[in-house]
Amino acid sequence: MKVLATRRYPGPAFDELDVEVLPLSELGSARPEVEALVVANEPVPLDLLPGLRLVANFGVGYDRLGVAELRERGVVVTNTPGVLDSATADLTFALVLAARRRVVEGDQRVRAGQWKGSWADGLLAEELTGSTLGIVGLGRIGQAVARRAQGFDLRVVYTQRTRAGNELGEYLELDVLLATADIVSIHAPLTPETDGLLDARRLSLLKDGAVLVNTARGEIVNEAAVVAELVSGRIRAGLDVFAHEPQVPKELLSLSNVVLTPHLGSGTRQTREAMTRLVVENIRAFERGEEVVTPVPG
Ligand code: DGY
Repeated sequence: MKVLATRRYPGPAFDELDVEVLPLSELGSARPEVEALVVANEPVPLDLLPGLRLVANFGVGYDRLGVAELRERGVVVTNTPGVLDSATADLTFALVLAARRRVVEGDQRVRAGQWKGSWADGLLAEELTGSTLGIVGLGRIGQAVARRAQGFDLRVVYTQRTRAGNELGEYLELDVLLATADIVSIHAPLTPETDGLLDARRLSLLKDGAVLVNTARGEIVNEAAVVAELVSGRIRAGLDVFAHEPQVPKELLSLSNVVLTPHLGSGTRQTREAMTRLVVENIRAFERGEEVVTPVPG
């Protein structure tokens, strides 16, 4: 089977594939011989790949692939759920701690030679232990975050599409959660229902000094509205994802109340290698004519 990959994906599993590496931007003309494509949530140019039978997405989120059209054309789509939950939950806590405890601000002070006088006169932050964490989307990653929250003695409240009880926290309607939590962390997939879910009205419900963390998708929050809230200084944030990556709103760059990371959620060597392994297993299963391992649901 002719396999094309948009880049070299990390880890030894990739070397097991007989694969051509070519970024989609360099495709140029139609490649009818390509039957399988490995992408990282990139729009699939079906017009240039008319022979495509499988898209193996490197990543759990598949919002940019154009899944509906792929399905209409009979293309099988797979993703990499499960293997990146821990890494993403860990990064969530890195952002929670960095934003809540002013870690990056402190680092910048030290580097700028502005650490003067006694620690007793220093930067004060809000306590994390004992505060309330609001989780938007209690799927696999949201649950991994909730489990970590127990170690910090956090009260966990959550909201999700279908109201269902969960021992990891207390269910609240979204608006109530936003008005209740000291920290709000987003773990929902980007769908037509979640696109712009946290609009200006909803963001205004956040408590003064609340921390908003987003390791899911930038589009779930109205970016202009979150920029306005951050510029006003009313809230703090840890943002790993943005609506127009790799562009980050320039107003954020000089703000000390926001910590910015470049979509690092799954970015550990072990996790990225496991994602590649799952991509390869899906391709292998498809080649053998078996059920793929992790088909995109729906
Ligand atoms: C995914 O898998 O969708 C993530 O955004 C990558 O970290």
